[in-house]
Order: sequence, then structure tokens, then C-alpha cells
Amino acid sequence: MCGIVGYFGKRNAAEILVDGLRRMEYRGYDSAGIACLHNRQIGVVKSPGKIKGLREKVDASNLVALHESTLGIGHTRWATHGPPNEVNAHPHLDASGHFAMVHNGIIENYKEIKAGLANQGIECVSDTDSEVLVQLIAYCYRDNLEKAVSQALKKVKGTYGIVVMTDKEPGKLVTARCGSPIVIGLGKEETIVASDASAILPHTRDAIYLEDFDMAVITADGMEMFDLQHAPINRETTTMDWDEGAAEKGDYAHFMLKEMFEQPDAIRNAIRGRLDFEMGTAILSGLDFSPRDAAQIGRVLVVGCGTSMHAGMVGEYAFEEMAGIPAEVEQAAEFRYRNPIVTPNDLVVAISQSGETADTLAAVREAKHKGAVVAGICNVVGSTIARETGRGVYLHAGPEIGVASTKAFTCQVSVMLMMALKVARTRRLPRHEGELLSRWIQRIPELVENVLAQNESIKAVAQKYARAEHAFFIGRGYLYPVALEGALKLKEISYIHAEGYHAAELKHGPIALLEETTPVVALLNNIPGKDKTLGNAEECKARKAPVIAVVSEGDEGVAEGFDDKIVVPDCPPCIAPIPTVVALQLLAYHIAAARGCEIDQPRNLAKSVTVE
Ligand code: G6P
Repeated sequence: MCGIVGYFGKRNAAEILVDGLRRMEYRGYDSAGIACLHNRQIGVVKSPGKIKGLREKVDASNLVALHESTLGIGHTRWATHGPPNEVNAHPHLDASGHFAMVHNGIIENYKEIKAGLANQGIECVSDTDSEVLVQLIAYCYRDNLEKAVSQALKKVKGTYGIVVMTDKEPGKLVTARCGSPIVIGLGKEETIVASDASAILPHTRDAIYLEDFDMAVITADGMEMFDLQHAPINRETTTMDWDEGAAEKGDYAHFMLKEMFEQPDAIRNAIRGRLDFEMGTAILSGLDFSPRDAAQIGRVLVVGCGTSMHAGMVGEYAFEEMAGIPAEVEQAAEFRYRNPIVTPNDLVVAISQSGETADTLAAVREAKHKGAVVAGICNVVGSTIARETGRGVYLHAGPEIGVASTKAFTCQVSVMLMMALKVARTRRLPRHEGELLSRWIQRIPELVENVLAQNESIKAVAQKYARAEHAFFIGRGYLYPVALEGALKLKEISYIHAEGYHAAELKHGPIALLEETTPVVALLNNIPGKDKTLGNAEECKARKAPVIAVVSEGDEGVAEGFDDKIVVPDCPPCIAPIPTVVALQLLAYHIAAARGCEIDQPRNLAKSVTVE
């Protein structure tokens, strides 16, 4: 979703800002802009569409501030209030033109504030909720920017991550957060503020993450931090451990392709040092459970959104099957708003690649409020969910840039399996079964390599179906979440209307939609329920729908009579989601590529959804 960057140092601000925005392109956006301050002049350039267009406009501009400045702010906007045009793009200026601001999040009471400003004769020019905030800051200003910012923020309901500057105090950037991440990179004689570590990594590894209601004032003398009451605060400096090169796509055509091929290593990193074969269990020190704590868990509730929720569904099955603990997965927003029943013996697991998804974060807060033990499964180290849950497991998958999540999903499932194994061993799972399972988990990278080696043959299947307008994915048991995830991948990047269904559910309605041009991907791996799914696939075939059968190695005969087959390694049911989803990721990728789609930044989508 929207990206923020701010720079104060000795180098050309515009270059660093535009480069920072480019590095955050993956988050999803539809317009962009920068504002630079030089000699008490603010120069602004904004552009609907891609960063490339913004860069061209900056280069062509004759505004001195843009070319000489060493202080500025930039933004990529993912439209919420008002279409993605130049007026609605950030940075926003106040009516006097003395204040410029970039904002992530949503100002929920913006209409009320806007009406109040209008009564004072201050008119907003854009449709955005953000503009009212900079107008309000300007209205509150007397002689000190941070005071005006805190005064304005106290009147705001909603979420924000902001960076503000004014030509009245030209050597200063003020930033603040509530609900939308802000990271401050501390370089040598320079400071870079961003919503995302990727804009900071090329410049420095030392960073401070703001907490909600923190403010920071950046000047040539350094940085000071306050709360909204102006009491000084201190936050620890952390070292960001991501390799900058990991966020570049190298020789791959797309980040998504690179990330799919990174999966064997990413999973190796996720499981490294975490399996104890002798005891047949997993060592997850971040969970901070004694066996006694684990034995007291009465129920596991998994919350997440999108792909992460699908990984949570696999976890739900694993907890029930291995540990014999009732488990449920719930869409995080639904969990949050339906007043769920949560007891102190519940373990709530929040699963989020970015660790910033607004609904998942809100679910974490609700679960904590209700006294549950809450753990996080996150990829981004230091992210809000990771910090607020306090306990949990990092994926160590490295940065995931492609909007369509791939390596995060397979690492999430690997981690969920280890979590279930650990808890299961404190309950009914015998040591030898735990050992067997841990050996299978250890083999996951190899199973994924086997599927990746079939890239070309999966591409050939994909090309046959690239013109489809609709597609269905069916599976059951552990493969039901994979059917949902396969359909999600396809619709996200190819814009084909794709639906994932439980194989048994298809005939309760969706089968009415099948015709010769509507492929059905049937997950017919060798797991319990295979024969039933096979019957469902036959039902599709009888309605003339082409069927792509995904089958287990050694069981290829199952695919006979169907139109195409993809063979994945034979493995236990709880492991099967991982190699199977990799095949579906490749299928979706090649279909999208054949359709000429913009794979890494699909239209309308955002990588990190920080609004509800
Ligand atoms: C967005 C992304 C998805 C992701 C979901 C949850 O919709 O496009 O790929 O699965 O958010 O994100 P999270 O960071 O919480 O896993």
C-alpha cells in the first residue's frame, strides 16, 4: 500500500526520494510525488501512474528546489479517497503553500475536520482524507512545527504515518506514527525516513522503528523523539539484517519468478536449527512456551488475511490432526469485529508476511485484550505484529517483493507444521511419529526443487489455458486451502476469474458455470479423499470442462482421461500443500506471463494492506 520516504542529509534529496519510491513500488500504488525544500522554497512534482513518469517530470522540471535540495519527502499513493490523479497524489500542501506532508493510513474523521476548516475559510482542493491533516497542521502552527503536528494529531481519529516539513523552519522534518509503520534510518550525516525498510537499506542498516503515538524531529543536529504530549522518549536502534541485493530481481524476469525459485533456500532458512530429530519435535525459542504451557493450550485460533489466511488453514488441520487440539482459522477482520469468544487457554496465532496488515494487527490487539496467549508468524523483522505479539516465529524468508505471495506462503506452512509438531509432542504425538514428521519437514526444500525442475512442462500446460476467462480449483483435506491459494494466485496476477472450492462443494452451485472453455484444476494427490476428488473431477469432465490433474509421483494413472497432468512428489498429507502450491504458483505465473500481465504489481493490489 502507500509508501513514504523522507530525506535530510547532504546529498541530492530528489534522487534519493525517487529511488526510495522505486524500491517501494512493490507495495502497490497508482500515483506518486515528491516535495523538496531549498532556500525557503518548496518544489513539488506529482504524477499519476508509475515512478518512471515521476522521474521524467522531475528531470524536466525547472524548479531549483528539486535539483538543489538536500531535504524532502516523497510518496506512492494507493487510492482510497478519490481517484489516482495529480491533485489527489501526495505530497499535499496546505492552502498557504508553506507546509508539505505525506501520509499513509486513513483519517476517519476527515469530513468533520474538513467542515471545521471550511468554517475558518480554509478550503481543501483534493478529495483525499490526507489533505485535511496538512491543512490542520498549518492551522495549528504558531512557531514550532512539532507542536503544530502533535496538536493536529490529537484531533485526528484513524491511522497515520506522516512526514511533514515547512519552509518556515527549513532545516527540519517531523514524522509521527499511529497504525502505519515508520522506520527511521540513521546514516552518516543523513537520515532517511520511510514506511518500509527497502527504501533505507541502500543507505544504512541502523534503524529506529516508531511505536504508535511517537513523533520524531529530524534536524541537522540529529534526532529527538517525543510522545504527543511532548515528553521525550527513547527507542532502541536496531540493525536491519536484510541483504540489499535480496530486494533486487537480478536475472529473473519478475520478482515473483525469483521468489518462487528462492523457495528451497527460504524454507531451509525457516527450518534451520528448528528440528530436533531425536526428540521428534521442533525447537521454536521465540514461542517461549514450556511444555507445561503448551500442554495447557485448550484451543488454537489462527488469524490472518489473504495468502496468510490460507497458510493458517493448513495450520488448523495440522494442529487438530497432530496435537488433537481444537483449531480454527478466521479472517482477521471478522475475528476482530464479531466479538469472538476467547478464553485464557486459547493460543491465538497471527500470521502475516508483512507484520503490518491492519486487520491482522487489530485482531492481535483484540485477542490480547481478551486475555489470550498471542503469538505471531511474521516475515518482516521488527514489524508491528511481531513486536506487539512479543512471542512468535520469524520466517527468515528474506524480502518478498512480488505482490502475489509465494515464498512467504511455503515458509508459513513450514513454520505452522513445526509449531503444530512442537505442541503435539507435549500431547499425544509419540516420539517416533514426531521424528518421522520432522524428517519430512527437513525434506521440504528438496520436494520444492523437484516441482521447480518442472518449470518448462508446467509452462507448456499454462500456455494452453492462457486465454481462459474463468477457472476453478478443487481439493479436499489439506489440499482444500491449496485450491483456494491456487485460485487466488491465478486471479491476482492473470485477472482470470478463478475460484477455489472444496471438491465436494462444486456441485452445490458452481458446477452450473462449467463449460468447454473453463478449466478445472483438480488436486488429486495421493492423500485421503483422493478417490472422492477423482469422482468430482470426473463430474467436471462430464460437463466438458478441461481438467488439469495434479497427481502424486508413482500414481500418474489417476490422471488418465483428463486433459493435462502435473506430477508432484508423493509425501504425507500435511506436507503435500507445499509442493502442490509451488506447481500452482508456476501455473499462475506462466498463464499471467502469456497474457502479458504486469506480474509483480497487479492492478489494484497492494503488498501490505495497512487500511481496514
Ligand atoms: C495483501 C497481499 C497478499 C497478502 C495479504 C496479507 O492482500 O497482496 O499477498 O497475503 O495482504 O498480508 P500479510 O502481510 O498480512 O501476510
